[in-house]
Amino acid sequence: MKIQAPRGTFDVLPEDAARRELVEAHAKRILGAAGYGRIETPAFEATELFQRGVGEATDIVQKEMYSFSDGAGRSLTLRPEGTAPVCRAYIEHGMHKWPQPVKLWYMSSFFRAEAPQKGRYRQFWQVGAEAIGSAEPETDAELIVLLADLLDALGIRARLMISSLGKPETRAVYREELQSYLRANSDQLSDEVRGRIDLNPLRAFDAIDPGTRAVMSGAPRLLDRLDAEDAAHFATVRRLLDRAGIGYEIEPTLVRGLDYYTRTLFEFSSDALGAQSGVAGGGRYDRLIEQLDGPPTPACGWAAGVERMLLAAGELPTSPAITDLYVAIADQEARPDAFQLAREARRAGLAAQLELSGRSLKRQLAHADRMGAGYVAIVGDGPTTGLKEMESGEQRELSLSEVIPTILRGSRLT
Ligand code: HAM
Repeated sequence: MKIQAPRGTFDVLPEDAARRELVEAHAKRILGAAGYGRIETPAFEATELFQRGVGEATDIVQKEMYSFSDGAGRSLTLRPEGTAPVCRAYIEHGMHKWPQPVKLWYMSSFFRAEAPQKGRYRQFWQVGAEAIGSAEPETDAELIVLLADLLDALGIRARLMISSLGKPETRAVYREELQSYLRANSDQLSDEVRGRIDLNPLRAFDAIDPGTRAVMSGAPRLLDRLDAEDAAHFATVRRLLDRAGIGYEIEPTLVRGLDYYTRTLFEFSSDALGAQSGVAGGGRYDRLIEQLDGPPTPACGWAAGVERMLLAAGELPTSPAITDLYVAIADQEARPDAFQLAREARRAGLAAQLELSGRSLKRQLAHADRMGAGYVAIVGDGPTTGLKEMESGEQRELSLSEVIPTILRGSRLT
């Protein structure tokens, strides 16, 4: 049996790596300019972090975590998301003593045991941003604007949906109201939804079966039950987005698969993606730090799937790798000189490659031409080295020590 990459995983080959570097460069530029510093947390954490942070009732915790024992009786889990780990780090490093909000971003890989399909993998990458320590609606709006800018920089056209969940207390009262409504209509619900009325009634809004959907179209909505403070917060976020010219739809039944959200909730989706249309999502999570035994700290953030952004972006302008100098070997005796020339060229700031494959001289020149090398130095055992400028085809003989200065001067050879 041939050994292959595990199901739902993939290799990033150089061409694809260049597209990912572009995503990273845009993220760094856009988030860096807004004061976000980069953070990297471990690839695995205590399982409890996700049980308590993401929520026991979520699909992620119930069925998608890669958990394993560390051999000393502790359960560890490959991180399925980045928000709980960043909050753990915030608490662990006493970041509440830093100037608030602490603004952090990451580009890391995450792991979920989901059924693989286009745009859905078991190891995937996210660019994420978290602003911890601010309750201001400007924080929410600014995060959404930064995400819109990132998608825009990549040429992604995506639909923005926003909503608000209010406070957990409002949600608890609403939850009971919704549960009573679901129980009163339980005969029309799917078995799955009926079975989850106690555990997670909100997920009923996500159901696709016609019976449940019909019931849900008349269900009470949380957005209509927000208290005055939360409603005002949401109204300000909307006003700021209007002012910034960011289009959005209010989606009162927006549901996201994580339990930590409070107040603002948002998601960008793209039709270019098919079934897995969510490109990016996030929201406010004002209780999470406290839930993880930190001081009460409001926070907001988002994450965007790198593979989904790349799928939605289509063609991206990546610049081809540049080779200023190709060092060809005309004589076996000259190999040490050729080796040293390539090294010195790089030290002088040139992109230089050495012949490493035992090709004939003719093949070496063809190879250098294919890679678009600016110059080829033909190192032989004689007193001079041939330097060929590939574009003009002009060639002249120089001493070995003249090769690099000649290229650096960019001078014509004749
Ligand atoms: P999430 O919606 O679970 O949120 O994931 C964010 C994004 O990651 C999704 O919109 C999608 O693009 C990508 N993604 C999720 N699962 C997969 C998968 N199996 N394969 C490929 N891409 C995937 C979070 O993770 C939250 N931590 C976001 C957040 C940050 N909320 C507040 N701060």
